[in-house]
Amino acid sequence: MDTVPTICTTDRPNGKPLSKVTIVGSGQVGMACAFSLVTQGITDEVALVDMVKDKLAGEVMDLQQGSVFTPGVKIYGSTDYSVTKDSKICVITAGARQKEGESRLQLIEKNVQILKQTIPQLLKYSPNAILLLVTNPVDVLTYCAWKISGRPVGTVIGTGTSLDTGRLKFLIAEKINISPKCVHIWIIGEHGDSSVPVWSRLQIGGVNLQELNHPSGISEEKSLEELHKAVVNSAYDIIKLKGYTSWAIGLNVADICRTILHNSRRIHAVTTLVQGFYGVGEEVFASLPCVLDTSGISNVIPLKVNDDEKEKFLQATNTLYEVQQSTGL
Ligand code: NAI
Ligand code: LAC
Repeated sequence: MDTVPTICTTDRPNGKPLSKVTIVGSGQVGMACAFSLVTQGITDEVALVDMVKDKLAGEVMDLQQGSVFTPGVKIYGSTDYSVTKDSKICVITAGARQKEGESRLQLIEKNVQILKQTIPQLLKYSPNAILLLVTNPVDVLTYCAWKISGRPVGTVIGTGTSLDTGRLKFLIAEKINISPKCVHIWIIGEHGDSSVPVWSRLQIGGVNLQELNHPSGISEEKSLEELHKAVVNSAYDIIKLKGYTSWAIGLNVADICRTILHNSRRIHAVTTLVQGFYGVGEEVFASLPCVLDTSGISNVIPLKVNDDEKEKFLQATNTLYEVQQSTGL
C-alpha cells in the first residue's frame, strides 16, 4: 500500500513553539484570557494550568473543540507544570477573587502563598519567561512576584491600571459619542480604589480637555469626578451583578501579550517599579505608562502630571508600600 505523503508535521522546528503563552488558573479570568488569545490568534500555543483537574480538563476540551472556528492556536493543559515548557509569557490568574464588597487588598495573604507555589514551577520550565500578573491585589502581587522570582524588573509585569484606563476611555467615548481609540488618557497608581486619572493630559483626537467645549459638559469638574467614580466602582458593580469580572481583563491581557509577542513597542499602563518617579523613595510597584516589547518593559514614560495628580499618586504608592511590607518579602 502506498504510504500516505506527509502533508504536515505537528513537530515545531527544533521542537520549540514559535510563541507560547501559559495561563495559570483556568477560572473565569484565566479562560477569558485564553479565549481572547485564541480567537485573535495572538500566539501559536496556549497552555493552561490549574490545581482542579476536572474543571481544567473540561475547559481545555471545550476550547479545543472550537479550533476549527479560530485562527488555529494549539491549546492544551495539565495540572503538571511541565506542560508550560518554553513559554514566552506566563499569565498568572490563579487565586481568590473578591467577594461582594470585599477590597482587592484583602486578598493579599492567600494569594501571595499561591505565587510562592507557582512561580518556581513556571521558571523551572521557562526560565526566561515574562511573568504577567493578573491576580489581585495585582500591584502588590507584582512586587511579590519580582521578589520571589529574582527576575529582572522589566520581565515581571502587572496588568495594573491598564484595565482602569480602558474602562475610562470607554466611558468617555460613550459620553461624547466617539471611538474609545480616539480618547487619550492614562490612569496611573493603584489598580482599583486609589487609581489616579491624569486629567491634565486628556486629549480627544489631539484636542485638550480644556479646549473641548463639548455639549455633554464632559470638561466640567463634576463630570470628570463622576466618570472616575464609575471606573473605581466598576468591579464592585459587576461583581454584585455577575459575581466576578472577566471579559475586559481577558481582552486586556491578550492586548498586552500581543504587544510583547509582536515586539510592537506600544505603551500600556502596567505595574512596575516606580521608585524615583514623582518623588517615590521606596521600592514600590504601581502603574505608569510603559513601552512593552519582546523584552518586557523597555521604558517607563515620565508622564508630566500636575501637583494634585502627583499627590494622589504618592498617596496610592504609600498605601501599596504598606501592604507590600506586610507580606514580609
Ligand atoms: P476563579 O476562582 O474563577 O479562578 C481562580 C482559579 O485559580 C481557579 O480555577 C482555581 O482552581 C485556581 N487556583 C487557585 N489556586 C491555585 C494554585 N495554587 N495553582 C493553580 N491554580 C490555582 O477566580 P477569577 O474570577 O478567575 O479571578 C482570579 C483572580 O484574578 C482574582 O484574584 C481576581 O481578583 C483577579 N482579577 C484581576 C483583575 C485585574 O484587573 N488585575 C481583573 C479581574 C480579576
Ligand atoms: C477588576 C477587579 C476584579 O475587575 O480587579 O477591576
